[in-house]
Amino acid sequence: MTGMGRVAVLGYLSIDTIATPAGIHRDVPGGAALYAALGARAAGADVRLHACAGEDFAPHWLAALARCGVDVDGVEHRVGPTRRARLAHGDDGRRASPHHAEALWWERTAALAPTIPAAFEADVVVMAPMPMASFAPALDAARRSAVRAVADTSEAFAYREGDALLARLGELDVFAPSREETRVLLPDLDDDEAAAALAARGCAVLQKRGAEGALAIEGDARTRLPAPATTPIDPTGAGDATVGALAGYLAAGIAFVDAARRALEVGAGTVTQPGPAALGLAWRDAQGDA
Ligand SMILES: Nc1ncnc2c1ncn2[C@@H]1O[C@H](COP(=O)(O)OP(=O)(O)OP(=O)(O)O)[C@@H](O)[C@H]1O
Ligand SMILES: [Mg+2]
Repeated sequence: MTGMGRVAVLGYLSIDTIATPAGIHRDVPGGAALYAALGARAAGADVRLHACAGEDFAPHWLAALARCGVDVDGVEHRVGPTRRARLAHGDDGRRASPHHAEALWWERTAALAPTIPAAFEADVVVMAPMPMASFAPALDAARRSAVRAVADTSEAFAYREGDALLARLGELDVFAPSREETRVLLPDLDDDEAAAALAARGCAVLQKRGAEGALAIEGDARTRLPAPATTPIDPTGAGDATVGALAGYLAAGIAFVDAARRALEVGAGTVTQPGPAALGLAWRDAQGDA
């Protein structure tokens, strides 16, 4: 019925400063690709990470990822700094991502674009949020390799290139944006309608709704998935870990809605500790960097 599947994760790494009501955490390794890779591992998959690290991405972070079972041989080293994000999470679940307004963030997004392999050796590829300049060739490569594609986006990319993204949704197996991103893509529709309109383009949709769970749509079937009970400490990466876990369960042969339900458990677990700690990434080194 199910066995270990192979997941390739393509996207970006980051070095995060995370402000929560309980305190601030600096120099936390992150990025959607890192959280998705760990989420896929949590789902039991064999995971290969395709991303670029800047000169400031600590080697011991990659070693820690490898200890988590993530194949980091596909992580390339590039000159200059890694992307950095300052993530502020409010008590009410609102979040601010001021880094998207910075020219440097966009410059590093271009400089650290992941190398697209000629073919993916995987059952499922996760396309973490990325500009269309990477998304388009990545989807081409997934289709050439007959690998299922699960993609996410971010509000910043949805604002800039929404129409180009919409035009390729039908080639995905699953599109898994947050509710906020679907509002950017289809501003005239309510959340349920937007998710249905996205699915009508020919992919399954998992519309992530934070503490309210998610809406899963496959064909004409809509399933409301409640968020599992959890104790939220830091929501950073929950959506990305959910998408990675979804890919992991799909790769193991589990059907979409069941895979999505299980993936939300991984997302709910992710929020219980700062950064990627709940996913098993012990990133602080012996010298005690915080
Ligand atoms: N406060 C919370 N309580 C319970 N579950 C949560 C909470 N936050 C996130 N989750 C779980 O994780 C899943 C994904 O989180 P969310 O909807 O916030 O994704 P996202 O908007 O893509 O987030 P991000 O991109 O910031 O990681 C949710 O569907 C839910 O199952
Ligand atoms: Mg997200």
